[in-house]
Amino acid sequence: MTVTVRVPAKVNVQLGVGGLRADGFHDLANVFFAVALGDEVTATAGEPGTGVTLSCTGPDADAVPLDDSNLAARAARLLAAHHGLAATDVHLHIAKAIPVAGGMAGGSADGAAALVACDALWKLGTPAEVLLELAAELGSDVPFALVGGVALGRGRGEILEPLPVTGTYHWVFAVADGGLSTPAVFRECDRLREEAGTGSADTEVATPDADPALLAALADGDAVALAAVLTNDLQPAALSLRPALAATLRAGTEAGAIGALVSGSGPTCAFLAKDADAAEAVAAALRASGSCRAAHATHGPVPGAAVTAGE
Ligand code: C5P
Repeated sequence: MTVTVRVPAKVNVQLGVGGLRADGFHDLANVFFAVALGDEVTATAGEPGTGVTLSCTGPDADAVPLDDSNLAARAARLLAAHHGLAATDVHLHIAKAIPVAGGMAGGSADGAAALVACDALWKLGTPAEVLLELAAELGSDVPFALVGGVALGRGRGEILEPLPVTGTYHWVFAVADGGLSTPAVFRECDRLREEAGTGSADTEVATPDADPALLAALADGDAVALAAVLTNDLQPAALSLRPALAATLRAGTEAGAIGALVSGSGPTCAFLAKDADAAEAVAAALRASGSCRAAHATHGPVPGAAVTAGE
């Protein structure tokens, strides 16, 4: 018995970061956008007593932890515990295309995919709202990987409101050498705010809100208008920790991208192109520039984690 789930990566077309809360998280106005660049997670019933085992293939497979820290393994265990299952013998194979520690929620995507795959494998029929709650326990970005499309994430990113969107947008992602730690980038954001004298606590920083111009651009299907208002409050922190990203952003813009920003906490850089041909040209120019390890042209929005095959 085998179930395969396809799950998208995300880019944040707006990442508004509020102050540091007492619980160590930041309140966000986080406009998630799901793209076709994605992973596949295949769940196979394991021999009795084997527990949860993992394997991974793909260009970054060596960087994927295959122990209990992997969100896919934690998701399988959490789902089993929620239903009081005695046995959790399952092998999860991750076919990895999403950059690892790249700011595209690849680990979160695998967690979401494992929830959906194990739910189908174990024939649990868990209601969608319960899967969303379990996803939020796993991490701030996991619920969005279940939902896909375009959504506003409030709170630490886990309180989701689907947003109206028209059309297909063409993206390019430039993958950097090595990842960035999300907590380290949030810490650097706080440090830069302290250095600038604005303060970093939630009592000092205004709670961010979704940009009405950005919501209108998405609803209208206007890529040029969207490109003009892309923002990421974590970008100064990512650039501070990885100054070379400035050259990547410049290379994509010079190659004709209509918008450029760091994806989430980075270091992947995201570029919006006016159509599919322009995206291929930007990707080729980025590869030739030597300012990134790889560049992928893709599109979105696409749906969240969904079963593609089972037997
Ligand atoms: O929720 P997740 O496990 O993905 O978060 C990883 C880390 O990123 C948190 O421990 C925190 O340091 C930081 N974070 C944050 N504010 C958020 C989301 C994440 O500070 N809204």
